[in-house]
Amino acid sequence: MEKESIDLKVMWHIDAVLHIFAVTIVTSVNQEGKINAAPYSLVLPFCSSPKNPQILLIVNKNWHTAKNIEATREFVLNYPKADQLSDIVKTSRFYDSETNELDYTHYTTISSKKVCPPRIVECYQHIECRVNKIIKPSQAQINFIADVLDVSLDKELYKIPRADCIKKANPPIYLGADEHMDHIFGKLTNISPVAIDLKVDK
Ligand SMILES: Cc1cc2nc3c(=O)[nH]c(=O)nc-3n(C[C@H](O)[C@H](O)[C@H](O)COP(=O)(O)O)c2cc1C
Repeated sequence: MEKESIDLKVMWHIDAVLHIFAVTIVTSVNQEGKINAAPYSLVLPFCSSPKNPQILLIVNKNWHTAKNIEATREFVLNYPKADQLSDIVKTSRFYDSETNELDYTHYTTISSKKVCPPRIVECYQHIECRVNKIIKPSQAQINFIADVLDVSLDKELYKIPRADCIKKANPPIYLGADEHMDHIFGKLTNISPVAIDLKVDK
């Protein structure tokens, strides 16, 4: 197969490179305690040690989420289900800083255990985070490395086989934006464990 190199422009990570992302809805609060919510896919476990679990969240510095987290240093990652796409996209609208995007959706909230921003009830999993370090790799971007203070999930997903848990949680996949800058989502339709034989043939 012949290969072709591609030019990288702004947003290359979602419109040039084919990469699959998780979908989270980040809840944060401003200094007056007003709630903000928006979808974020540039999220990755940063430190996998159970002694020091950390998450990396990558945000455009102009977004309310970036401003809130820089001011209060706390946020919650809420993991929505694939059948909530319409509400997920509604939270991505850019309202003024006083508006809680969740008011325009079917989502409801409950308090978090360790931080001020709330958890979204209808999401299946929540990671409560406090910022440990901030990295600004460009003028537009602010990266938060945050300590994981609590992870909670729907009780029905607790301690069941992982494949069943994934089927019940039904997480969407984010596949970037097309030529019209419309977001492309997918869902998991075939979930099956594959045993890996670690023996090397001689
Ligand atoms: C599925 C999805 C994933 C997104 N992921 C990110 C992301 O990781 N980082 C980012 O800066 N913006 C991301 N965005 C864009 C923000 O959600 C959007 O600009 C939003 O208006 C920001 O809201 P806020 O100002 O309330 O934080 C994403 C949008 C969608 C629809």
